[in-house]
Amino acid sequence: MTKKPEQINQNRKNKLPGNFNVVQLKGERAIRDAKKLDDKAFEGHQKISIHELSTIAEQVGLYGIFQDENIVAEAQLMFEDTDFYNLEFQNSAYCYGIAVDADFRGKGLATSLINMMEEQVRLNSKNILYLASRPENYASLQLWYKHGYKVFDYKERYFGPDTREDSRLLLYKSLTEKLNLQKTHIATLQLKNTIWDNDLRSSLVDLLSKHGEVTVEIITDNRFINYQIYID
Ligand SMILES: CC(C)(COP(=O)(O)OP(=O)(O)OC[C@H]1O[C@@H](n2cnc3c(N)ncnc32)[C@H](O)[C@@H]1OP(=O)(O)O)[C@@H](O)C(=O)NCCC(=O)NCCS
Repeated sequence: MTKKPEQINQNRKNKLPGNFNVVQLKGERAIRDAKKLDDKAFEGHQKISIHELSTIAEQVGLYGIFQDENIVAEAQLMFEDTDFYNLEFQNSAYCYGIAVDADFRGKGLATSLINMMEEQVRLNSKNILYLASRPENYASLQLWYKHGYKVFDYKERYFGPDTREDSRLLLYKSLTEKLNLQKTHIATLQLKNTIWDNDLRSSLVDLLSKHGEVTVEIITDNRFINYQIYID
């Protein structure tokens, strides 16, 4: 059974900037609002269903950040198998999605949601948090890199039959092990197509098959988006 926090504990680490509130989302209206925000943030991709969001909310894994009455960020955390997703590991929780309203990005809201999710994972006596990301989603990869997440797999057709749309990198962090800050740089890859970059994908698959897992940091300048690849 998932442990139900009475309220989200805003410790110093996940204290939010400005007049934002973080809450656990439940009820039809909150779920509808979270869907609207998620659909907008992932425009052009497969949309999340009300059934998926309600199931996650029942596991007490749906969180939102509000400014006044309006939801401006949301994250979905799965602690147990559902009828649409089975967890990859024992003792793990899976971040099914995280989205911030475009007008509120760059303010640390996703960071606050990740800190809070990690806290909830620990409260539920799990020790791994993992997620899936499109390889071209450099903002997402950089966000998770900043929090110490490593890429451990690339799975084709993870969410459906389409190699292009449905394949994902998988990233994880062990919440019980100390982060190793000594990393060795092994490659630089350049993102050439933010929609679908076949070269990037095959280079990443290559590196993963050689090294098992890698850390991906994004370095951008005015012209290029470079993926810096490290191993521990
Ligand atoms: C990715 C996303 C959740 C980030 O939300 P956010 O609230 O802006 O993120 P934060 O302000 O907490 O940023 C934390 C770090 O993430 C990285 N980051 C965030 N947006 C970035 C961008 N556009 N480009 C590069 N790095 C970015 C930065 O390193 C940033 O740290 P910094 O501000 O010190 O540079 C948001 O852009 C979003 O909703 N995107 C669409 C949905 C999506 O792709 N979700 C992730 C799927 S796994």
